[in-house]
Amino acid sequence: MDASTTEIEIAILPDVDAVALATANIVAASSLAAGDEFSIALAGGETPRRLYEMLATEPFLSGIAWDTWNVWWGDERCVPPTDEMNNYALAAESLLSKVPIPAERVHRIRGEVGSQAAAVAYENELRDHFGGGNVPEFDLILLGVGDDGHTASLFPGTQALQETRQFVVPSVAPWPPYDRLTLSLPVINAARRVVFIVVGREKAHALRMVIASDREDAQQPPAALVRPANGVVQFVVDEAAAVLLTGAPA
Ligand code: 6PG
Repeated sequence: MDASTTEIEIAILPDVDAVALATANIVAASSLAAGDEFSIALAGGETPRRLYEMLATEPFLSGIAWDTWNVWWGDERCVPPTDEMNNYALAAESLLSKVPIPAERVHRIRGEVGSQAAAVAYENELRDHFGGGNVPEFDLILLGVGDDGHTASLFPGTQALQETRQFVVPSVAPWPPYDRLTLSLPVINAARRVVFIVVGREKAHALRMVIASDREDAQQPPAALVRPANGVVQFVVDEAAAVLLTGAPA
């Protein structure tokens, strides 16, 4: 896979609302382009909240064909779905409870059973849906970036980064909730489109490392490994997160 062939687009916007609106438009366009079946993996963390809230309002609420969606997650923490640290909980509160996606098309990761068992179950659900041994090809994967350059639950220096066969792997975070599971890089890099949403000055150093990184750099941050060979990577970021992209010293 040659990273140099991946198309990378960067949009720098004034603030989180503008980032949310730009990303909501990308989601709506991707959904329309996908036709009758749209497979999306949602991002976790706090940044996507404004995006999810915006998707649940007009013009997106009536403009999106919600019944064509299959909703997945890029990763999950091993806490109950009612826990405020749970990625499903955020999406359920801000989006899924407000839009008419059929329940059977919401593929919640059951992290509460523990990372190993949840990874096997989620992998089986992906294989059932996308067809046996084929690497799942998502129409759209939404991702965040941590200030250490992690994405999904792929943390620097962890074994999960090395996975080349499984679609879903258990992971350990350096901070609570420690026990997690995540899509592996082969799945993320099979996506037709990956959109990173990055907001805040605290992300500026990581964002510069991720965008500037060369695949040969052994120390590169996990988010820099997201380079779908046949897909598009878009960074939709605010001005605060982009402050170091002008080449200024970190
Ligand atoms: C998670 C996410 C993770 C997140 C980043 C950024 O489960 O935590 O998958 O990769 O996107 O940590 O998180 P914030 O949006 O909260 O800064």
